[in-house]
Amino acid sequence: MSFRDLLNSLPIPILQAPMAGATFEAMTVAVSQAGGLGNLAAAGVAPEELGAVVDAIRAQTGAPFGVNLLMAPAASPEPAEVDAARARLAPWYAELRLDVPDPPNRFSQVFDDQLEALRRAAPPLASFSFSILTRAQVEALHAAGTFVVGTANTVAEAVAWAEVGADGICAQGFEAGGHHAYFLADIEASSVGTMALVATVLAAVDLPVIAAGGIMDGRGVAAALALGASAVQMGSAFLQADEAIIGPTWQAALRDAPDDATRLTRAFSGRYARGLENRFVREMRAVQDFVPAYPVQNRLTQAMRAAADKAGDPELMSLWAGQAVKLAKPGAAGEMVKQWWAEAQATAQALVARTAKT
Ligand SMILES: Cc1cc2nc3c(=O)[nH]c(=O)nc-3n(C[C@H](O)[C@H](O)[C@H](O)COP(=O)(O)O)c2cc1C
Repeated sequence: MSFRDLLNSLPIPILQAPMAGATFEAMTVAVSQAGGLGNLAAAGVAPEELGAVVDAIRAQTGAPFGVNLLMAPAASPEPAEVDAARARLAPWYAELRLDVPDPPNRFSQVFDDQLEALRRAAPPLASFSFSILTRAQVEALHAAGTFVVGTANTVAEAVAWAEVGADGICAQGFEAGGHHAYFLADIEASSVGTMALVATVLAAVDLPVIAAGGIMDGRGVAAALALGASAVQMGSAFLQADEAIIGPTWQAALRDAPDDATRLTRAFSGRYARGLENRFVREMRAVQDFVPAYPVQNRLTQAMRAAADKAGDPELMSLWAGQAVKLAKPGAAGEMVKQWWAEAQATAQALVARTAKT
């Protein structure tokens, strides 16, 4: 079966976006069981633990699912850069009555070890963001029976993934919540809206395209399929699902968010990501270009974000969310997927009626 066949065979062509820190096993299972395709966000999972999680998901659903890794570069920053970053963060930690933590031994999981664990776990699908695999790495996953999806913010990135043998492209538009995938050009040159990106990627590569970014309900699903996407990947729309693992402060911020509330920021992690604007985003804007690149800044702010969450302070948390997140609603993830599909079908029927008029 080709990856295109797999997507076409899904009862509901909705993929739940992997969301590190916001979703885990339960949502992956719920969405795959409902007829969509759930994705495990495995960026923070240690290599030695990955196999057991994948086995647990496989045991709970006979349906296809995916596992996602973020391709963090191995970081060995100069001590002076880390000290400067820690000094910049000191006043923020002080607000929470905390000292800036000592530099960690390691800034993220070791990607090559995670990839090897993923290959051994052999999930039906694996997706990647932040960089690109080599052809040999893609072939190793294929040999294990795993389809490979590369995330792209630009046509050039989609073409690059096609050249290393990926089976599909997740076209992640500028609207998307959380971290953006860009790896060939800077954020400005990589800021393409979902509608423009899906259409131009489809024109450039002969691979199934999964549309992501700003899709919050069945109308968005229908729109993406009308553009030619084989499926959609929705993230922020699931943040208020029962299976989401975000705390009450993030939940409340989502519920109370004003219109047009999201911004791209580099301040929390050293890589541009979209979230609700808060005081940290605003006040760090002037210096965000100088913070160390991902994953260093991400690790250095981790304890601050966790402490702010514990203290119920949304101003110092990374409240990742995509544009139009105001349309997201609470519910059980499986029911949400079914409802969006019913809405998409109704939208398509209304369009048939509308376009039939002469
Ligand atoms: C809270 C959050 C965490 C995310 N974490 C990941 C991740 O671990 N891996 C990844 O490839 N994408 C991640 N993303 C991006 C999503 O995969 C997807 O591209 C995005 O959610 C689509 O836009 P939407 O939020 O507007 O639906 C995350 C997004 C959010 C909102």
